[in-house]
Amino acid sequence: MIIAIDGPSGAGKSTLGRMLARELGLLYIDTGWMYRAVAFAVIEANVNASDDLAVGSLARRIDIDLHGDPDTLRVTLDRRDVTEAIRSEDVTHMSSVISAIPDVRRAMVERQREMGRRGAVLNGRDIGTVVFPDADVKFFLTAVAEERAKRRFAEEFEQNKTVDFGETLADMTERDRRDSTRADSPLRVADDAILIDSTGQSIEEVFAGMMAIVNQKSEIVNQKSEIRNQKSVI
Ligand code: DC
Repeated sequence: MIIAIDGPSGAGKSTLGRMLARELGLLYIDTGWMYRAVAFAVIEANVNASDDLAVGSLARRIDIDLHGDPDTLRVTLDRRDVTEAIRSEDVTHMSSVISAIPDVRRAMVERQREMGRRGAVLNGRDIGTVVFPDADVKFFLTAVAEERAKRRFAEEFEQNKTVDFGETLADMTERDRRDSTRADSPLRVADDAILIDSTGQSIEEVFAGMMAIVNQKSEIVNQKSEIRNQKSVI
């Protein structure tokens, strides 16, 4: 089973993606971490982020891997663990810039299809529209910007006590604008996605709603395969 979770930042994609993957015994793939790893490599190699050719060629050359189960997920760049390093503000900003480059997207999408093909919960911006357009269940998770920024702010505050809420909100809004307006694979709701607005809901409530949809969907899939089996017996 392939489950796609797309949506803007701070909507709860990773918390809910991990919970679903754990519950269903599926692989969990955070595709944002992969773009962040490319961004980290761009900064480290001092590559000019507006040089699409150079960034694209770097993205093809590097080896990005995700290891571990949903709760212990780590990301490596050329076998080096960069899980903590990709959370910095510089990397966050750079990941939104370089993810607009078509060659970068091509390299990442190829890798994501390879990793997820045997079944996974994937979260990102283009999973249901581009990476796995035939995913069994597609969710588009969102919440009002202030609430998403509050969640992001709480995470950032744990690492850095001097962060400012206004700045977090402004950065997030700018990143979402860039992610939604780029020409290649912008963030958008797939036609057959289930839209979930988590504003004012607890994680447990949203999770229960998502699980109900997944269960319904797997019943339909099972019924269809039973009908196919009966037909082949007749
Ligand atoms: O989900 P995140 O904030 O960790 O993602 C980092 C950046 O990567 C985000 O600004 C958009 C980009 N991204 C993307 O373009 N496509 C994806 N499938 C996942 C992330």
